[in-house]
Amino acid sequence: MEGCGPGICLVVVGMVSILQLGVVFHYLHYSSNYRPGDTQRWENKTVTHKTGEDLVRWSKGRFLKIAESQTRKSLAPGCQNLQTRFLTIGVPTVCRKQQQYVLTTLDSLVSGLSRGQRQEVVIVVYLADQNETCRRSTETDVRQKYPSLVQSCLIRFLHPPAISRFYPALSRQSGTNSEKKARWRSKQNLDFSYLLIQCQNLSTYYLQLEDDVIAVSWFYRSIKETIKMTASNWVCIEFIELGFIGKLFHSSDLVPLATMIVDWYQHTPADDTYIEYYKKRQQKSRILVTPTLFQHIGWHSSLDGRLQKLKDPYFESDLENKLFVNNNPPANISTTMTIDFQHPPRDCYEGSRGYFLTSEPVKDGNVFRVLFLSLQNLSRIFVQTGISAGRGNILEEGVLELGKNIDCRNQSFFNVYRFHKGMVDVRIDQKDVRCIVIRVTADQKSVLMIKEISVFQK
Ligand SMILES: *[C@@H]1O[C@H](CO)[C@@H](O)[C@H](O)[C@H]1NC(C)=O
Ligand SMILES: *[C@@H]1O[C@H](CO)[C@@H](O)[C@H](O)[C@H]1NC(C)=O
Ligand SMILES: *[C@@H]1O[C@H](CO)[C@@H](O)[C@H](O)[C@H]1NC(C)=O
Ligand SMILES: *[C@@H]1O[C@H](CO)[C@@H](O)[C@H](O)[C@H]1NC(C)=O
Ligand SMILES: *[C@@H]1O[C@H](CO)[C@@H](O)[C@H](O)[C@H]1NC(C)=O
Ligand SMILES: *[C@@H]1O[C@H](CO)[C@@H](O)[C@H](O)[C@H]1NC(C)=O
Repeated sequence: MEGCGPGICLVVVGMVSILQLGVVFHYLHYSSNYRPGDTQRWENKTVTHKTGEDLVRWSKGRFLKIAESQTRKSLAPGCQNLQTRFLTIGVPTVCRKQQQYVLTTLDSLVSGLSRGQRQEVVIVVYLADQNETCRRSTETDVRQKYPSLVQSCLIRFLHPPAISRFYPALSRQSGTNSEKKARWRSKQNLDFSYLLIQCQNLSTYYLQLEDDVIAVSWFYRSIKETIKMTASNWVCIEFIELGFIGKLFHSSDLVPLATMIVDWYQHTPADDTYIEYYKKRQQKSRILVTPTLFQHIGWHSSLDGRLQKLKDPYFESDLENKLFVNNNPPANISTTMTIDFQHPPRDCYEGSRGYFLTSEPVKDGNVFRVLFLSLQNLSRIFVQTGISAGRGNILEEGVLELGKNIDCRNQSFFNVYRFHKGMVDVRIDQKDVRCIVIRVTADQKSVLMIKEISVFQK
């Protein structure tokens, strides 16, 4: 099974289809026979339904076949036959005892989209909880908050199909923690897979998110630009480091990826499967875009008691704060580096938040100039590039130069400091400084972030 290609799995294995029986039951069945780890029993077990009318066995092939057959009808009937959009954002959500985050997630997504961009995107909220009451109530909450966005098909809802034994017998409540975890992961894998299959034809690209993630306000624009800038043979672009979240795919990869997740659903979390998938499709290494555009807000995992404390170390909002809240002397700033318009040069020099980001990797000889409007007597200069010491888009090879010349160019700089781990922090006693220059001294592969330039007067 595991070696087979997606098409073959779909066609050959799914021989027994509940659809052919035309019987639709409550979508979940509680099995008292299932023993964790007992794979053969689990997968091949024939279950006699309460009514005694059907004999249905759960299998991967049947699962995939059901998922595929639902594709045309599962998503918002009024939204079919609409034009293919640019991006689908899949947001699986389950009910949590302590707190629901999905509205916060949707809020951050929706508020980052302009009126025009809302025509280019579909947000699919997959209500994956086993408790139907809870699913309905989440859907109602979202509908009440965003009636017009639901109406315009920006937000669409997806439920697990009301089909007998859509899931294998996963729902037994007892067992050790590791057994519970294994069942939780198995169901999560199947949910991911179902969601991917349902989204296959909605758009050109697909982004996997979760219900406890927030996005920065410029996420959509950044995704589009990243796609433009990345060589076309990518399979997966990652906008968040952890888990199966913030991963971008071509929609044409969704069904084969979903098939691989189902193939391995009992033993491999989707967090790992997608990596195997892009390797199999000849993407040699991870493409991680930093600073990342999304971050986990959830502290209460959907598996009771499993706290999720991981935060993405590259997330923007953590790194917008500068070390010093400093009043730098007034200056004119210019650069020969290419500018990411969302993060202009001035943002690393002024204000307590924000930073400068280049839109392309920097090259040997690129400069960033700070020309003071009047001569300055300086006691300290602090420059940090990258997200934090030594990490994320630092200046790999470069120097900081101090000059007296008003044109800040062809001058002899009287002090030169080399960047170390992306930083320069020097205490000086220097009179009549006119300008400081950051000079790149070797081509580098990554873009440059200048997070902070703080200049202290005597
Ligand atoms: C269960 O099914 C697999 C293939 O799906 C087969 O190889 C295996 O022999 C079956 N096991 C039993 C106990 O029927
Ligand atoms: C389903 O969810 C509702 C509302 O969240 C809750 O009151 C009810 O107890 C849940 N039912 C089960 C079987 O867990
Ligand atoms: C998805 O689109 C492809 C190509 O347009 C088409 O062949 C396929 O039948 C569609 N699948 C579904 C489930 O609509
Ligand atoms: C700073 O920039 C302004 C506007 O571009 C310009 O008028 C002024 O002459 C510049 N000052 C210096 C010292 O270069
Ligand atoms: C810098 O130091 C010189 C010499 O001590 C002094 O004349 C000048 O006023 C100082 N400049 C500023 C801006 O404080
Ligand atoms: C100043 O530098 C530029 C570029 O580095 C060079 O082309 C030019 O000849 C220099 N001018 C002088 C006067 O040194």
